[in-house]
Amino acid sequence: MVFEPLKVDPFGWNKVFPLRALFVYIVRLVTSRISGFYKLPPSERLKAVAEQSGLGTEEVSQVEKGLAVDQADKMVENVIGVFQVPLGIATNFLIDGREVLIPMATEEPSVIAAASNGARMARSAGGFSTSSTGPVMRAQIQITGLADPFAARQAVFLHKDELTQMANEKDPMLVKYGGGVEDIEVYVINSRVGPMVVVHLIVDCRDAMGANAVNTMAEALAPRLEEITGGKVYLRIISNLADKRLARAKAVFKAEDIGGHEVVDGIIQAAALAEVDPYRAATHNKGIMNGITAVVLATGNDTRAVEAGAHSFASLSGRYMSLTRYEKNRDGDLVGTIELPVAVGLVGGATRVHPVAKTAVKILGVKSADDLSRIIAAVGLCQNFAALRALASEGIQRGHMSLHAKNVAAQAGAKCDMIDIIAARMAAERRISVDRAAELMEELDERSNR
Ligand code: MEV
Repeated sequence: MVFEPLKVDPFGWNKVFPLRALFVYIVRLVTSRISGFYKLPPSERLKAVAEQSGLGTEEVSQVEKGLAVDQADKMVENVIGVFQVPLGIATNFLIDGREVLIPMATEEPSVIAAASNGARMARSAGGFSTSSTGPVMRAQIQITGLADPFAARQAVFLHKDELTQMANEKDPMLVKYGGGVEDIEVYVINSRVGPMVVVHLIVDCRDAMGANAVNTMAEALAPRLEEITGGKVYLRIISNLADKRLARAKAVFKAEDIGGHEVVDGIIQAAALAEVDPYRAATHNKGIMNGITAVVLATGNDTRAVEAGAHSFASLSGRYMSLTRYEKNRDGDLVGTIELPVAVGLVGGATRVHPVAKTAVKILGVKSADDLSRIIAAVGLCQNFAALRALASEGIQRGHMSLHAKNVAAQAGAKCDMIDIIAARMAAERRISVDRAAELMEELDERSNR
């Protein structure tokens, strides 16, 4: 638990409890372990998150209202409405010694509960520790029609300083904040249509995801590269295989906290299959992306860019592999690690435009895009651990069933408390269908009419 100053009181509780106000004003007890969080109604959950994260009244109402159509109309073309996805909070995360509440936007039941559960199990050994390579992206410039591609490659290297300066002039703000071109790499690639030279512009994008910055730079360099090499430039675009923007996370899960040594062994067996079998690796990595995509979406970042990066990185060895590793340490506990590209930003894109995304960033308490990428890696590891633990013990269906049963009960026409009663019966019977829900509704009606 850490202490932080609290400057806001979005719900006016301080007026009702003046002593509490004094105490809370001086120190805020920040924790991601909010007891009974899942049992609260959504509005109470939001209050609790607001208090923990220091959200103001305006931010709270933005979460309640969501994205308005006129705001959406400024984001994409031909808008006719907004498509809403549930936003939940995963609790219990301790990341690099900091308590973090994780906003997750997802339509899939059980994902947020599983992440919260996994994070709780990581706490007794200190939670998640993370590292990263920094916010560095690549743009590619493809030069074709070259008689002597290796000579062209050398010519590009001879003009490296000039090209670096030209590119940096396109984004003086980025340079001012310590970013800009870090290096230029040049490859000769033999393709189906003959050899081509591909220039990689390596750019530190600081707090931007970087697509706009590096695409602008790549387009600006294209005419000069044609002059230097005598070739013809076609593609000039970012690479989503962001292998210089890696985020990593590690956690130890104590055997006693996760169901014993058999569960540790089961998880290691499951992970070993995902390392060598692409059929399993695809599902294993899908589970990781359940967590990652939910945070990327909640923070208004480009989910497709992060997914393309993750899956291409998983294939870098030439075979599609899992993005996590699991080992047993000397104490017999489970050690999980993850490493993958996480190209996300805090400036540009939808992050500063989408009102809920802005608030999600505040809830996370991140100060830089790099911070955000490392938290996302930790969530990916945690989500994967939670899925493997379920698979190595009771299976995942039990967890899925209770929400699924509620959906089915509602589909059958059950209302209010009836939904929970019918869902509980169907889950206990392991018979979840609209027909069964309808039968149970009739039974309950008959009983109450007797
Ligand atoms: C379901 O969305 C994700 C899982 O299939 C992941 C896994 O199998 O590791 C449970």
